[in-house]
Amino acid sequence: MTFSHNGAAGATLATGGSSFITLEQFIIEREAESPGSKGQFSRLLRDMAVAAKMVERDVRKAGLVDLFGETGEINVQDEEQKKLDVLAHEAFVRALRRGGEVCLIGSEEHAEAIPLLFDDCQGKYVVLFDPLDGSSNIDVNISIGTIFSIYRIPDDHVGKVTIESALQCGRQQVAAGYIVYGSSTILVYTTGNGVNGFTLDPSIGEFLLSHPDITTPDRGNIYSINEGNYNSWEPGLKEYIKWMQQEAPDDAPARPYTTRYIGSFVADFHRNLMKGGVYIYPANTRNPNGKLRLMYEANPMAFIVEQAGGRAETGNGPILDVEPEALHDRCPVYIGSPAMVEDALAFLSGERTSRD
Ligand code: AHG
Ligand code: MN
Ligand code: MN
Repeated sequence: MTFSHNGAAGATLATGGSSFITLEQFIIEREAESPGSKGQFSRLLRDMAVAAKMVERDVRKAGLVDLFGETGEINVQDEEQKKLDVLAHEAFVRALRRGGEVCLIGSEEHAEAIPLLFDDCQGKYVVLFDPLDGSSNIDVNISIGTIFSIYRIPDDHVGKVTIESALQCGRQQVAAGYIVYGSSTILVYTTGNGVNGFTLDPSIGEFLLSHPDITTPDRGNIYSINEGNYNSWEPGLKEYIKWMQQEAPDDAPARPYTTRYIGSFVADFHRNLMKGGVYIYPANTRNPNGKLRLMYEANPMAFIVEQAGGRAETGNGPILDVEPEALHDRCPVYIGSPAMVEDALAFLSGERTSRD
């Protein structure tokens, strides 16, 4: 360790080493590994990163300029739209519209899918996103994020995209990612060849590879669920949570587990991905399909977690196998470390109980 003249420990900055790699370099290197690639997909990822930087700039300024609070509108989810929800939605739509690689966009903040270049569609890709996840945390300086999912349009849809072009099952995703605007800003994505994370260096405005080849632990000690909804849960889930709160015998994995629930899926997911844990947003008596949206919350995170060695289930099969019926479909979510999701499923099916 080195010490600077004022005595503070001098950590090695990513930009100070000789081996840093920017997101753009990384994308180009990966593209070169796919023979026949014409670069459209790389440009699309670059556009997403540019929009993410614009959103991060606005998030960092919120509170100083008039960006906190509601717009006064209600979105298609029947939720109050925040000003930053709308700004983020517009930043991504603008970047993708200009880029020309995308023919259809679906957003949490827009009732219908948005076709681009409708009469002369050159773009091959469909992008679905939650522009700002964790809206309830925007005004109180807690981590929020963006989640996105990318599909290729089916060949026979070229030039005549409809909403059907977007309604593909999660296994068809060609890429998925998220950005957390947190203590620092990180962009994590997969194209089905592992998961990599890039931290924004604000001094040079570049995402730099900081978390190569992310794998999630087989088991962690965190569970994330809104326990205020306890009374509306099914019996197997109540048993699972009770079991996680019990002391474990000497030879079993350490219990009790610890609860962490921020209320921004993207931030809860990222922490659990790195440290090991399970995030649950179950079906309940009020919401038989849970709360999280299949196409732009559950599916992208399911693709990422599976690529990192984790699991993502609805309680009725893998999230990635759910056939969507509409853009804003919801589904129950059990996602995270594989051994913990496995435990959850065993309790849900009644195969295990807290007395075992
Ligand atoms: P969004 O802000 O995009 O509408 O998503 C909110 C979601 C998710 O981020 C979070 O985990 C969950 O809602 C929290 O819901 P509860 O307040 O019901 O726990
Ligand atoms: Mn969300
Ligand atoms: Mn949102």
